Amino acid sequence: MKKDYLIEVKKLEKTFYTGGVETRAVRGVDFKIKKGEFLTIMGPSGSGKSTIMQILGFLDRPTGGNYYFKGQNSKKFSDDKLARLRNREVGFIFQTFNLLSRTTVFENVELPLLYSAQKRNKKQIEKMVEKALKKVSMNYRSAYFSNQLSGGEKQRAAIARALVNEPEIIFADEPTGNLDSKSGKQVMKILQDLNRQGKTVVLITHETKTARHAKRIIKIIDGKIQDDYPVKKSIDANGKGDLK
Ligand SMILES: Nc1ncnc2c1ncn2[C@@H]1O[C@H](COP(=O)(O)OP(=O)(O)OP(=O)(O)O)[C@@H](O)[C@H]1O
Ligand SMILES: [Mg+2]
Repeated sequence: MKKDYLIEVKKLEKTFYTGGVETRAVRGVDFKIKKGEFLTIMGPSGSGKSTIMQILGFLDRPTGGNYYFKGQNSKKFSDDKLARLRNREVGFIFQTFNLLSRTTVFENVELPLLYSAQKRNKKQIEKMVEKALKKVSMNYRSAYFSNQLSGGEKQRAAIARALVNEPEIIFADEPTGNLDSKSGKQVMKILQDLNRQGKTVVLITHETKTARHAKRIIKIIDGKIQDDYPVKKSIDANGKGDLK
């Protein structure tokens, strides 16, 4: 039954202990995500959004509750399995792009393929990188160093890097936070297009307007879910629809 869901968390908890201080970042959170959904985790600064994403993306483990991925309890996953899942099943996009600076766009995008357990030859790698760059209209910047790109181009290169391994799910943590509104719209349109093509997208933001590009909003306050509801009329990043 659990197989119906890509992701299911039950009573999820994450408590940090830092210098004798306890922070209960996530306090008993329940939700399910189906394949192909586009949802936003929305909440104020410090509410636990990134912590939840780190757990869902296998970058960190919960301190309580359970996380099922494709019906399997992640408690049983070895560190090797977590590394494999991180590389193959999920793609990350961050506010700060996180590209290697004196490295070309091509090399940045190719990186996840080089770390993959799956062996591919140079031709196959080239093809996959080109396909990912095409999805974000960045082929023409393939040979640029990432420090030569505009902010919007950097984020598009980062999206190509997140896509190159053809992951099941994309996590975008405040992907428009450092962008001007035009580049931000481009990024939201790319996320919507990816979702239309079947990709599961989890967007994290503190802004209602950004959140409403998705089809469902989970509102988090102080590490707890305050609300979980469908977006009746999503904002169309093409500029149509309700832009209030
Ligand atoms: N590695 C860590 N060690 C200790 N405390 C942490 C750690 N990561 C997060 N926290 C704490 O957990 C709480 C939730 O942090 P989190 O980064 O998940 O918030 P957020 O909702 O993503 O906020 P923002 O919108 O500012 O990015 C905060 O109080 C934060 O200080
Ligand atoms: Mg955060």
